[in-house]
Amino acid sequence: MELMEVIRKRRSIRRYKPDPISEEDINYVLEAARLAPSWANTQCWHFIVVTDEDIKREIAQAGMPWSAGAPVIIVACADPAKPGAKGDIPNYLVDIGIVMEHLILAATERGLATCWVGGFNEAPVKEALGVPENIRVVAMTPIAYPDQEPAARSRKALGEIVSYNRYQSP
Ligand SMILES: Cc1cc2nc3c(=O)[nH]c(=O)nc-3n(C[C@H](O)[C@H](O)[C@H](O)COP(=O)(O)O)c2cc1C
Repeated sequence: MELMEVIRKRRSIRRYKPDPISEEDINYVLEAARLAPSWANTQCWHFIVVTDEDIKREIAQAGMPWSAGAPVIIVACADPAKPGAKGDIPNYLVDIGIVMEHLILAATERGLATCWVGGFNEAPVKEALGVPENIRVVAMTPIAYPDQEPAARSRKALGEIVSYNRYQSP
């Protein structure tokens, strides 16, 4: 699939088939993540591939109850101290944004459903996964075969989000 086709095809999908995901597919999406760029190449991330039913249920309850039926949940953790901050921009959040999109687009290419989840209660997720205190859990996504085909969600037109040479409101 061409890159633009993958980008156009991706959706946040929140209903899944219970069919298992092959180890090859899991490794494919993780490899796409591994190759992502990061602040000074610090690669502040760590991924937890959750397949255990009890642990999946626990982390699903922390903010994505609809996800428990997915065969795999990937949890993206980060060490905020590694890239540090330039000015007041926490670079670990930027790095996790990039790495998650690599992973999600690779999953889309393989016909797998994902949904970026950032709205969850971090404490119980850390507890369920044994994440050390200094490490943040930034994002999660189920990885599953889709059981729905949502239409594309609307996006602003380029004219509303782009200006040349100087900032200009639409
Ligand atoms: C940083 C970030 C956090 C998100 N957090 C959640 C979330 O907590 N729960 C959820 O259901 N969707 C979450 N989403 C998915 C967005 O709601 C979704 O991307 C947006 O509505 C556009 O839909 P689309 O992804 O299908 O194009 C998140 C997306 C991003 C990029």
